[in-house]
Amino acid sequence: MNPEHLAHFNLPAYRVFESVPSTNDVALAWAKEQAPDGALVIANAQTAGRGRMDRHWFTPPDCALAFSLILRPTSQESENVALFSPLGGLALSLALETRYQLQPRIKWPNDVLLNRKKTAGILAETIWQAGQPQAIILGIGVNVGKDCVPPADQVLFPATSIEEALNSKVERWELLEAILHNLFAWRKQLTSPAFLDAWQNRLAFLGEQVYILQPQQEKIRGTVMGLTTSGDLSLLLHNGEIHNFAAGDIHLRLVDKIR
Ligand code: BTN
Repeated sequence: MNPEHLAHFNLPAYRVFESVPSTNDVALAWAKEQAPDGALVIANAQTAGRGRMDRHWFTPPDCALAFSLILRPTSQESENVALFSPLGGLALSLALETRYQLQPRIKWPNDVLLNRKKTAGILAETIWQAGQPQAIILGIGVNVGKDCVPPADQVLFPATSIEEALNSKVERWELLEAILHNLFAWRKQLTSPAFLDAWQNRLAFLGEQVYILQPQQEKIRGTVMGLTTSGDLSLLLHNGEIHNFAAGDIHLRLVDKIR
């Protein structure tokens, strides 16, 4: 990866690698050594990229965006740590809309879909000290080119890439610049109703039947109603009750796509 591009991004600090096990691991270590708010770790490839719930994240060289931002939450943000991963999903969605005229949807809580297939995932990890978040590592992985879409038998949800959806080449640095621009702009509104509106307006599967899968629990089926004021997912169950789900060890699947 050519680090020259990053020099123009106005970042407080950054580290660029050809290949690392995981940019989140590099960022976690750097955050423990006083990396500043907004510091970025980016790699052309990852050999042990991590997804949510300890899943592997496929990052072959030259075709993906794989980066981790180190964010030092303010006291107000500290009360809303769970909103940082949707912030990443929203920032990427806005970048895809404004720069490439695509119509992404956010599969709650934060996967970004194009044509109902996953094109990006987000792994937010928090360093806590005495009950306070010291740093949030916001790891974002985007399938930019076709070569970074994992084989169908290795994914739980259908996957695609931006170039597949767009049918033309995407310059990774341009995309990164647009994501960071939107991310820092919307971070200022993280706790505002405008943030929830922007997220909800792009929510995937609104009005559709989904299953919620939780470890060691029966799957729950319901219709997606939208977000609560705290960003939980609201589902209308078969018996007419509304259930709200907080992000965590949760998976969402379309009813006809479960396996
Ligand atoms: C998911 O959908 O399960 C989340 C995937 C997050 C992948 C990104 S790639 C950059 C950063 N480094 C990692 O090891 N993981 C995140």
